[in-house]
Amino acid sequence: MLTRRKILAAAAIVCTSAAINAGQIKVETADISLILDGEPGGKLDLCYFGEKLDDTAEFEYAWHITQPDTPEEYGTQLYPAYGGRFFLNPALKITHADGVMTTELVYQSHGQRAIDANRTETIVTLRDKLYDATVDLRFVAYNTENVITQEVTFGHNEPGEVTIENIASSYLTLKASNYYLTHFHGTWAREMQLVEECLTPGVKVIESKKGMRTTQSDNSAFMVSLNAPAQEYSGEVYAGALAWTGNYKMSFELDEAGLLHIIGGINPFASEIKLGAGEDFTTPAMVLTYSNQGRSSISHNLHDWTRRYNLAHGNEERPIVLNSWEGAYFTYDENVIKRMIDDAAEFGVEMFVLDDGWFGNKFPRNGDNAGLGDWQVNKKKLPHGIGALADYAVSKGLKFGIWIEPEMVNPDSELAHKHPEWIVRSGNRDLLPMRNQQLLDLTNPEVQDFVFGVFDGIMSMSPNISYVKWDANRHVDNAGSTYLAADRQSHFWYEYIKGLYSVYERIRQKYPDVEIQLCSAGGGRIDFGALKYHDEFWTSDNTNALDRLSIQYSTNLFFPAIATAAHVSTSPNHQTGMMLPLKFRFDVAMTGRLGMELQPSQLNGEEKEFASRAVVLYKQLRPVIQLGDLYRLDSPYDNDGWCANMYVTKNRGEAVVFAFSTTYHNRTQSYSIKLHGLDPDKHYLLEEVNTISGNSNYVGSGKVYSGEFLMKAGLLLPIGGAYTSMVLHLVEQ
Ligand code: GLA
Repeated sequence: MLTRRKILAAAAIVCTSAAINAGQIKVETADISLILDGEPGGKLDLCYFGEKLDDTAEFEYAWHITQPDTPEEYGTQLYPAYGGRFFLNPALKITHADGVMTTELVYQSHGQRAIDANRTETIVTLRDKLYDATVDLRFVAYNTENVITQEVTFGHNEPGEVTIENIASSYLTLKASNYYLTHFHGTWAREMQLVEECLTPGVKVIESKKGMRTTQSDNSAFMVSLNAPAQEYSGEVYAGALAWTGNYKMSFELDEAGLLHIIGGINPFASEIKLGAGEDFTTPAMVLTYSNQGRSSISHNLHDWTRRYNLAHGNEERPIVLNSWEGAYFTYDENVIKRMIDDAAEFGVEMFVLDDGWFGNKFPRNGDNAGLGDWQVNKKKLPHGIGALADYAVSKGLKFGIWIEPEMVNPDSELAHKHPEWIVRSGNRDLLPMRNQQLLDLTNPEVQDFVFGVFDGIMSMSPNISYVKWDANRHVDNAGSTYLAADRQSHFWYEYIKGLYSVYERIRQKYPDVEIQLCSAGGGRIDFGALKYHDEFWTSDNTNALDRLSIQYSTNLFFPAIATAAHVSTSPNHQTGMMLPLKFRFDVAMTGRLGMELQPSQLNGEEKEFASRAVVLYKQLRPVIQLGDLYRLDSPYDNDGWCANMYVTKNRGEAVVFAFSTTYHNRTQSYSIKLHGLDPDKHYLLEEVNTISGNSNYVGSGKVYSGEFLMKAGLLLPIGGAYTSMVLHLVEQ
């Protein structure tokens, strides 16, 4: 068997130098290069993925990832299938129509085109050596944002069905001495807990099998830092996140040669896909980025990309919201809600959102045990309907939003009695309730129509509805569908999410302007697949500001502040019982999309005054926080009892710094921080804002500092007490 090197050497004899490079494929952004090599009839190799590289001809003889004498069978393939002498976990495993279980993919062709000035699409087609089966690898390179997405389409013309057992969206091979994986573990009300670990030989897996609420126990986003734990402003870091709202699996396989293979895609668990001749199957996209300047640039890349390409209205400032949930739960009538709207208006809040509890008549939604599925306004609670409330909010200068959970049904509902066949079920097994509810089977087009109809019906209640909170409070167990054929039950996981996305598409086509919040019992569904159709997400049902610091820190590594709904709630906190100062609660919520979620009438005069001033301030700072660049100054995960971050406008002319003390230090300790992202040559007027009294006692406030001073010498902030915090506003002079 020829080694790859020998094949290339042989090719060099007969080709011109231009032709030698003809097999080299470059997928590039402003700062990143992904270099592939596909010789016709040979395997598609990954030569390089990292910092932008212009000199690539050397890859013909200088190897970057694998050893020069590595036999071709073991070489670094970009998309290895199970077959040949490939012994690691493959990117693709299929069974051919004749029962043969192996596949050997070779390069067939590729094409490249500019989608527009910022985006380039590259499609590389591989084919099986023997069978009429092809794999298209589709890359989109986003130049300015330094993001590359990859998705894969498999198709065949074999004389019978082919079974896909595993089809990854991407397969990346890295070479370093050590690999540090950052991933995000958690549960309800404790989402996105950052874990960083040094990978050891073997396979580390992060996955979800929850079906449609898949980011609650681990998010599908990850980072890998080479040779050392990830730093904020230095070091090589790779990041990936699957744009998919269903089951996923990310595996990190450290092999005997010290290479790390990262395989990411939909979870193959119980998910065989059967494809007839002429049919094809496309994976969700893996969103990839890289930086040699640490985590900070990774976040900038992803935030910019999200705002521009993967978030509804990504460059428009978000309104400040008062949500009714923690203030009223299920217990309200028209007067209670009107009073909340009055108070919201008084605070200067810009949107009122009516949460759960407004619907169901035969089975009124007075708790979580009834009514889901019956999306008619509860006449007893709201005799004048939603329209009257929406009009009332608008008359007070507020926008109006409303909560729905259209994928779900309570057994105690008219819908459950009318359409039991719409419920996800596994044959005749018992239905297992979760939060007293069942899941509707979105693989069924009738259910898709129903779910679209729920949204459409809600929107028709009033032209003054401008925001919808879409919730999903359970996940899949005992999966199965009465709609799918017996031999297609394993398509359930994939078809559910495709059904969901097709409903989202229809909604976005008809309602491009409405703001939609992505919610799933808090942050159970925060992924780039769903986010694309939404304006923001509900980050967590845990509104306790102290816990939010760590939840939001991790969430914002990937997802931007503009989409991070963060609400000030009451004290003691309803989830944790913890008591925190109102200022601390506001300061934490102001690092994201500020909102309030409490009964305003329970605030005393001083608190109301503070809240009103904070709302005015947030409106002023909002463009910096929501549209600027995030710089993390100090992590809440380092256990030193302090943390801080800051936002800087793109032109470096304005910044906002948030600093928190999360424990009692001691009387003599102050918090020393160095700022980031400023222009060293600019001078900034620094002012402490959001103080309790309205005035600052901080000696450093009201003074002018150079960017250089703030970034090199830094500041000493007098916050050593437990749950104290400071907000600093910097404006270029
Ligand atoms: C979920 C959401 C909450 C609230 C309730 C209503 O838990 O995350 O914000 O909307 O449902 O039932």
